[in-house]
Amino acid sequence: MPGYVEFIQNYPAYDHTHNLDELREREYSRLDRLGQVYLDYTGASLYAESQVRKHQELLAGNVFGNPHSSNPTSLAATRLIESTRAKVLQFFKASPDEYVCIFTQNASGALKLVGEAYPFGKDCHYLLTFDNHNSVNGIREYAHAKGADVTYIPLTLPDMRVDEKMLAGYLEAGGNACANLFAYPAQSNFSSVQHPLEWIEKAHNAGWDVLLDAAAFVPSNQLDLSRWKPDFVPVSFYKIFGYPTGVGALLARREVLKKLHRPWFAGGTITVASVQGDRYYLAEAPAAFEDGTLDYLNIPAVEIGLQHIESIGLPLIHERVRCLVGWLLYRLKVMEHSTGVPLARIYGPLGSDARGGAVTFNFFDRADKPMDIRRVEQAANEHNISLRTGCFCNPGAGEIALQISKMELAACFSQPSHTQRLTYDDFRTCIDGKASGAIRMSVGLASNFEDVQAAAAFAEMLLD
Ligand SMILES: Cc1ncc(COP(=O)(O)O)c(C=O)c1O
Repeated sequence: MPGYVEFIQNYPAYDHTHNLDELREREYSRLDRLGQVYLDYTGASLYAESQVRKHQELLAGNVFGNPHSSNPTSLAATRLIESTRAKVLQFFKASPDEYVCIFTQNASGALKLVGEAYPFGKDCHYLLTFDNHNSVNGIREYAHAKGADVTYIPLTLPDMRVDEKMLAGYLEAGGNACANLFAYPAQSNFSSVQHPLEWIEKAHNAGWDVLLDAAAFVPSNQLDLSRWKPDFVPVSFYKIFGYPTGVGALLARREVLKKLHRPWFAGGTITVASVQGDRYYLAEAPAAFEDGTLDYLNIPAVEIGLQHIESIGLPLIHERVRCLVGWLLYRLKVMEHSTGVPLARIYGPLGSDARGGAVTFNFFDRADKPMDIRRVEQAANEHNISLRTGCFCNPGAGEIALQISKMELAACFSQPSHTQRLTYDDFRTCIDGKASGAIRMSVGLASNFEDVQAAAAFAEMLLD
C-alpha cells in the first residue's frame, strides 16, 4: 500500500502489532466486508464476533432469574454478577479491600451517583478542568445547589494542557474545612490529551477527593489502581470492547465512599425499609449504590469483554494506537492548499506523547475560512467513513480550542429569544464566523494503516 514503507520507517513498532491484523480478520471482518472505515473509537469501541457468540451461548445454555432472591436461577445470576465484579477489579488491578465496583448504566450514571451524594456544602469546593465531559460538568449543579464554590481550571493553547503551577495554586486554596472534590479526565475526549495521573496524589496531599474520569483513557491504556489511587473512577464498558452497551461502573475507594449520602433509597439498596416506621437502613456498598435490578443478563458479557481485551493485551493496543495516531497527525499536518493555507487546524498536542488515539481539528478552505463541519460529515458519510463532529459533550475544551470567549457566550445566552431555549443552529448564528464545533477521528483496537490512509485520502480530496 502506498505510504506504508514511510510509515513503517517512522513507526517500526507497528510491525510488532500484526497480531491485531489477524484479530481484525478473525473477529472484525465485517469492517472490510462492508467497506466501513470506522474512526470513532472514542465514541465507542467495536465488539469482536466471539464476544457476542460466547454471550449468546451463555444465555442459551443457562436459566437466569432476578438476582434479588435465593432460588437456583437467581443464585446463578448472582454468581455471574459477582464474578464479573471481581474481574473488573482485577482488570484495573484494584484490591477488593480498597476499591468497590458499583455497576451502573454507563459512565454518566457513575458520575451522577457521585454528584448527587457528595457532601458538598457552603465553603466546600468543586474544582474541575475546562476539559471535561458534560457528565462531569453536570456535577456542578449539585455543588451549586448545596452552596459549594465551583471553579474551572483553564487550559493553555496550543496543547490544551493545564498549567501545573496554576493547578497547584487552586489545590492549595482549597482549605480543609469542608469536603472538596477535584475532577478531571485521564484522557480528554476532545483533544485526547492525557492529563497526568500524578495530580491524584498532589490533590490528596492538599486534602481533596479526586474523581478521575477514565472513560476515554481505559480503552487503550492500563489504569493501574494499585499504583494510582483516585477516589472515584467512572467507566463505560462499550468504550473498551464495544459490547454490551448499557453497563458501566463506578470504581470507588471504600474509605471515601463512606462520605457519600445517597439522596434516596430504592429496591436493592437497603437491608430494611418500613412504611409505618418511616425508616430505612442502607445496605453495604456496592448494593447501597445499585438501584433496582441490575442488568444481570448483560453484566456477564462484561467479563467476556474483559477476557477478550486481556487475550490481546492492552500494551499491544496502546502501541498500535500510538503509531496510527502519530501517522494520522503527520498526514493532516502537512496538507496545504495551493494558497499555502494549511488544510487542517489541529486542536491539542501535535506529537504522540501523553495523548490518546483521537485527533480533533477543523478543515479550512483556501481562503482560510473554516469548512462547515456538517458538510464535512456528510462528505465522510458518502465514503463510509464514521467520524464525529461537534464538541463531543466537552464544551469547555471546545470553547478554548475554538477561542469562543466568555463575553461572546454571555451575549449569546442573554438574547431574549435564547433565555429558555437555544438550538444548535441558533448557537452557530450567534457566534457567526467562527467554527462552532470540530471534527474528531479516533483509532482503536481494530484500526489499521488502511483506515488511517483512507482518512488522509478523504482529507486530500478537500484540498483546492
Ligand atoms: C471522557 C468521557 N467521560 C464520560 C463520558 C460519558 O460516557 P457515557 O455516555 O457512556 O455515559 C464519555 C463519553 O463519551 C467520555 O468520553
